[in-house]
Amino acid sequence: MPSDLTYTPAAGHHWLTPLYDFGVAALTREHRWRSALIAQVRPRAGDVIVDVGCGTGSLLVRLGKAAPSARLIGIDPDTAVLARTRKRVAAAGLAAELHIGFARQTAELLGSPPPTKVVSSLVFHQVPMEEKVAALAAMYAALGASGEVHVADYGLQRTPLMRVLFRAIIQNLDGRVNTEPNAHGILPELMHTAGFRSVEETLVIPTLSGSISLYRGVRAA
Ligand SMILES: C[S@@+](CC[C@H](N)C(=O)[O-])C[C@H]1O[C@@H](n2cnc3c(N)ncnc32)[C@H](O)[C@@H]1O
Repeated sequence: MPSDLTYTPAAGHHWLTPLYDFGVAALTREHRWRSALIAQVRPRAGDVIVDVGCGTGSLLVRLGKAAPSARLIGIDPDTAVLARTRKRVAAAGLAAELHIGFARQTAELLGSPPPTKVVSSLVFHQVPMEEKVAALAAMYAALGASGEVHVADYGLQRTPLMRVLFRAIIQNLDGRVNTEPNAHGILPELMHTAGFRSVEETLVIPTLSGSISLYRGVRAA
């Protein structure tokens, strides 16, 4: 792992990590957006699915339950959350390969065959602009032809209420610099610049912590 890169932990501070899953459930309408994301990803037998910034493994477990024979891979720089993921995946009777690393390393961390789908949830709002750009480039490089990227994260905050909630909760925990571009709706533009085609914001879900958007894009064949 590059020694000069740092990261914001799942709940903003390492000491809050044990409360992360509770916080997501309480503040993000978690079931709503994770179910919508799984429906969008449509995991299938034969898929190789990478969850970038997999955190405590909530999405990996849902992906595995939706398609038990899909190959699952998780990447995260935080060894403490990966330990939680390992336990959670095993408790669900599933298997996942877990790699310690940053989103920008997605291509170099993976062997072959290349992933058919890359997913990422609640990660982009936490990372610096340079990492958002490098992450999308690495996801594009990692995917096979016609591979798909699916992202769920805080996106364009369209109403005064959503902007106030996003500021009060997410920007308080994760700081303003990295989160503000998401709130201005930067992700589709960055996905397009990385090379993805058919980039779409497919759903916007208002929550107690700001609105969460789902996005998708496709790597050229
Ligand atoms: C808010 S949590 C989201 C976790 C999980 N994806 C979910 O949906 O619950 C953000 C995660 O991104 C990880 N992270 C932070 N910076 C990262 C980076 N540059 N590359 C990859 N993961 C990163 C953190 O360690 C944390 O586990």
